[in-house]
Amino acid sequence: MSVLSSLKKAFKSDGSQNFPNDLESLWMPFSANKHFKKNPRIISRAKGMYYYTPSGDQILDGVAGLWCCNAGHSRKPIVEAIKRQAEELDFAPAFNMGHPKSFQLSSKLSQMAPKGFNHVFFGNSGSEAVESALKIALSYWREKGQESKKILIGRNRGYHGTNFGGVSVGGIEKNRAQFNKFLPEVYHLSDTHNLDKNAYSKGQPNWGDELTNELNVMIEKHGSENIAAVIVEPVAGSTGVLIPPKNYLNKLKKICSDNKILLIFDEVITGFGRLGKSFASEYFNITPDLICLAKGINSGTVPMGAVLVQDEIYNAFMDKEEKMIDLFHGYTYSAHPLACAASLAALKLYEDEGLFERANKLSNYWEDAIHSLKGLRNVIDIRNLGLIGAVELEPIKGKPTKRAYNVLCEAFFNQKTLLRVTGDIVALSPPLIIEKSQIDQLVENLKITLQQTE
Ligand SMILES: Cc1ncc(COP(=O)(O)O)c(C=O)c1O
Repeated sequence: MSVLSSLKKAFKSDGSQNFPNDLESLWMPFSANKHFKKNPRIISRAKGMYYYTPSGDQILDGVAGLWCCNAGHSRKPIVEAIKRQAEELDFAPAFNMGHPKSFQLSSKLSQMAPKGFNHVFFGNSGSEAVESALKIALSYWREKGQESKKILIGRNRGYHGTNFGGVSVGGIEKNRAQFNKFLPEVYHLSDTHNLDKNAYSKGQPNWGDELTNELNVMIEKHGSENIAAVIVEPVAGSTGVLIPPKNYLNKLKKICSDNKILLIFDEVITGFGRLGKSFASEYFNITPDLICLAKGINSGTVPMGAVLVQDEIYNAFMDKEEKMIDLFHGYTYSAHPLACAASLAALKLYEDEGLFERANKLSNYWEDAIHSLKGLRNVIDIRNLGLIGAVELEPIKGKPTKRAYNVLCEAFFNQKTLLRVTGDIVALSPPLIIEKSQIDQLVENLKITLQQTE
């Protein structure tokens, strides 16, 4: 009997069960396809803090889906807004046409954003937000008559999605190795992750701000007149939760400002309450020039990405004679009506339930809870900020990433918990509606998982 048919047999067939007919046809992204298909982890329903498998197992969501469902799952106001929108206006062309909610949403996001970000450019994902921000940065300098400013600077272990621009400025070698050409003239700062100096830091580490000097060195070498922008995640998420050292981001900002280099914050993960504020820019009190958003923008319900744009940048394009096209960039689904409706409903829900403030208030409890895992076998670091946490594991010799992957499987099947793993790091980022008792449960489930995983 095939794995699939034996699994199907094991599930109750009461109509609510919907186990798929075929696993082979789907090529799963960023996945161990062959391993998964031998013993699939299927989730078919979600509500609040939980996912449910086709057989009805309740899975505690420790990662807000994939860092995105900040309001929890299948929340009624968002679901209703999407339904209403689908009935009223299913799609509207975005080029030279508008629909009301795209303007309402951009106004709303501008109100939430730090001062000066009065313009929004929409795409459909974090990768597209990054791609759009990089293009806006490069074309801004052309508009200003400074065409030599073409160099982009990213950071090692940065993740900026999977498009060619984002992978170029991103700092993950493996994401480049399978492919050929990338953007030329891209350099990378060092990452700030250093276990000798920063292990078990609670909140922002004390060591590492001096690494910003590398930017000064790059400027000296390449000339600020040739550098367009620096892009960083305020807190790097996808490469294992790397918390910025104290003063690091301020210093980066100052060097950029002093040298007329744009600073792009990729807030695809840190936006919408993850750190207890609307944006990390607000949390750290640092104003970049462009901010990339996605995920929590509509609590992960409909694909959407966005770039918040400072007035100075937008005006560089608009304070000129009228053109037929101001920016040669955009997407069929930019500001899709369903995504906009979902976002307006999600932002209202965040406000109505005070979810960002809730995350802020829970962050100390969260910190204590996850640091209680110190001392468990294979644990070599624990770190946290806001409602983000990570537990780093000693890799199995010769098999990097395998231990964390085993933890993911063990947690799902035996502790009914959804985790995210990256490298040998377990990343945690629960929906902002999490209760203290559920934090305790999550940490207990992870503890048992770690005790039971080789
Ligand atoms: C900081 C950051 N930027 C960009 C992306 C890419 O987003 P998407 O997967 O929606 O394209 C991610 C995804 O995790 C991210 O964490």
